[in-house]
Amino acid sequence: MENRKKSTTKLGICEKIHTIQAFYPITKETMIIDGKSIAHSILMEVLEKTKTLTTKPRIVDVLLGDNPASLSYIRQKGRSAEIAGIDFELRQFSADTTEDELLTIVEWLNNDSNIHGFIIQLPLPPHINTNNIIEAIDPRKDVDGFTSQNIGKLFLGTADLVSCTPKGVMRLLKESDVKIQGENIVMIGKSNIVGKPLSLLLMNAGWTVTVCSKDTKNIAEFTRNADIIIVAAGSPGLVKKNMVRPNATIIDVGCTLVNGKIRGDVDFEALESTCLITPVPGGVGPMTVAMLMENTFIAAKNQM
Ligand code: GUN
Repeated sequence: MENRKKSTTKLGICEKIHTIQAFYPITKETMIIDGKSIAHSILMEVLEKTKTLTTKPRIVDVLLGDNPASLSYIRQKGRSAEIAGIDFELRQFSADTTEDELLTIVEWLNNDSNIHGFIIQLPLPPHINTNNIIEAIDPRKDVDGFTSQNIGKLFLGTADLVSCTPKGVMRLLKESDVKIQGENIVMIGKSNIVGKPLSLLLMNAGWTVTVCSKDTKNIAEFTRNADIIIVAAGSPGLVKKNMVRPNATIIDVGCTLVNGKIRGDVDFEALESTCLITPVPGGVGPMTVAMLMENTFIAAKNQM
């Protein structure tokens, strides 16, 4: 309760309507949604669930080449898997691997009953057709939730394996006690990995969703009326203070390397005192990884 008491005093000025569950240690007077801490709690929940299985779940991450950003992301997954009681293995191949060779690797993984889930680390080298590879993945092992079968089920609201970043954002909103009914959401970004599936999840959950892109004309006219802004545009600093009404909730999915530092799509410094906001790093990123572990548990359970 200590955290919530502190936040009430601080929030009195701006009469913030959103409240954070006292369970999570919310930093900076509760205006910041601490994705890292929420993700850690989820990994502990997954650990409890994996303990109930007869076999330890196993996930394989396939990487072609040695992209440093991918390797750093993979290390984070390895650490999270350990916390969640999941075996994690990196299988790294040459960046020159052909599409046919990669399809053969996917087939091995599909047929290996000791592996419950796997992901093909994106982006793939340009000589490989990413869609051909994703479609070759057995949907039961598709812990990324990228195959057309799993995306189709997400559309219908019947998916077991939901894409990790959209699922992580939904969970962040839930854990932050953000209201659903009547709230207007502006989603900036329409990628297959985040914007499109997340818009569907939000609609299925009862939100009113407007989808924009970074090129939308007069984008501020949309964002200024939004109760919640979710941005996944890969455009650092796109959302500025004058585009957001006070007390809005902002979820920043952006993650771009600028001069050696990771930056989100929001002018965080200008908005952190007036909005409920996720930081970058430490907001959506850890949630994506936690959801990957939850999906691995679900995939393993379904296959046992
Ligand atoms: N590269 C960056 N993020 C992701 C992800 O969520 N899944 C895969 N497969 N590759 C990625």
